[in-house]
Amino acid sequence: MGRPFILVQLSDPHIGADWGVGDPVAGLAASVASVRELRPAPDAVLVSGDLVDHGSDAEYAEVASLLEELDAPVYPLPGNHDDRDALRRQFGIPGEAGGPVQYVVDLGPLRVLALDSTRPGADSGELDAGRLAWLEDALSADPHTPTVLAMHHPPLLTHAPALDALALAGDDRAALAEIVARHRSVALIVAGHVHRAIAGELAGRRVLSAPSTYVGFRLDLVGTELQSIPAPLGYVVHVLCDGELVSHVHALSASPCV
Ligand SMILES: [Fe+2]
Repeated sequence: MGRPFILVQLSDPHIGADWGVGDPVAGLAASVASVRELRPAPDAVLVSGDLVDHGSDAEYAEVASLLEELDAPVYPLPGNHDDRDALRRQFGIPGEAGGPVQYVVDLGPLRVLALDSTRPGADSGELDAGRLAWLEDALSADPHTPTVLAMHHPPLLTHAPALDALALAGDDRAALAEIVARHRSVALIVAGHVHRAIAGELAGRRVLSAPSTYVGFRLDLVGTELQSIPAPLGYVVHVLCDGELVSHVHALSASPCV
């Protein structure tokens, strides 16, 4: 058996938030402390959006200093609460001002494609023609290496009305499915945004959303109002070994964060 390759996924820390539930700094600090105890240590850490709550440089400086405690490279992507340019500035991500924040990371046995699913000024998501073309090119450039496609808005319907009101546009999800179907290298699609671990599929590939490190959203398959709750909080540990990828959803105790 080969050495496992570990990609940790943190999501939705919302540094700077005050939603009346939870403590974003305590939640992220507890998550980082927990990740530091993982054995083997992670090879890379993905942060799947909503790093901060209001998009200010001060919030990004704070989240970056908390993430610095991780002994692994950190790869962030934007969520609906992020500011593309401030995120770029803090983490040194190239690209044009105001444009989507997306990039490819070659990690050896695994590739990560960070895809920007945000619609500036809105909580729901979109993938326009330019972003879809970028994805097609990025996937075509390496058809063989197992690839994790990472984005903030999960490309699935959860059937929880309050969550689906903030979803990726249906036409864009269908266009994404067409691209994914053409590329066998896509081993897994990961997301955040819904503050719950939710599994589904797109074009026959697994889709998994990660819990938030800050607050959960109540599981409600009827109501239309989003309700923040102190748990479940956690993160995901993706393990690639001998060409197979499995994902552990690791729940954090609510106690340090409520
Ligand atoms: Fe969020």
